[in-house]
Amino acid sequence: MKLHYIEDNGQEHIVDAELGTTVMSTAVTNGIPGIDAQCGGSLSCASCHVYVEAPWQDNLAPAGDEESEMLESAAAEVRPNSRLSCQLELGPDLDGLTVRIPETQW
Ligand code: FES
Repeated sequence: MKLHYIEDNGQEHIVDAELGTTVMSTAVTNGIPGIDAQCGGSLSCASCHVYVEAPWQDNLAPAGDEESEMLESAAAEVRPNSRLSCQLELGPDLDGLTVRIPETQW
C-alpha cells in the first residue's frame, strides 16, 4: 500500500507501507522530515502531529480521549483534521492515505 506525506513546503513523498504499521512508524522508517515522534509512539509527545487530507479522515477511527488531550499540546495549529500519526494504524482501507506535515513540531 502507498502513503503520501506532504511537507509544509509542498514537497510530497510517496512511500510503500505495510498493513498493521502506523503512519508515524512508516514516516520514521522512510526518513520523512517533520515527523519527530520523540516518544516513539507512546502517546506522550505530540511531535508526530499530522493533518489528514480528505477523504481519508472519514476512514479513520476517531481520536480517543488520550490522543485528543495530547494533541492539545501540539506546537502547530490544531485543526479538525489533526491527528497524532502514531495512533493511525494502517488497515486495507487506507491505501493512498495522504497526510500533511505541520510547519513545526516544537
Ligand atoms: Fe509521541 Fe505520537 S510519537 S505522541
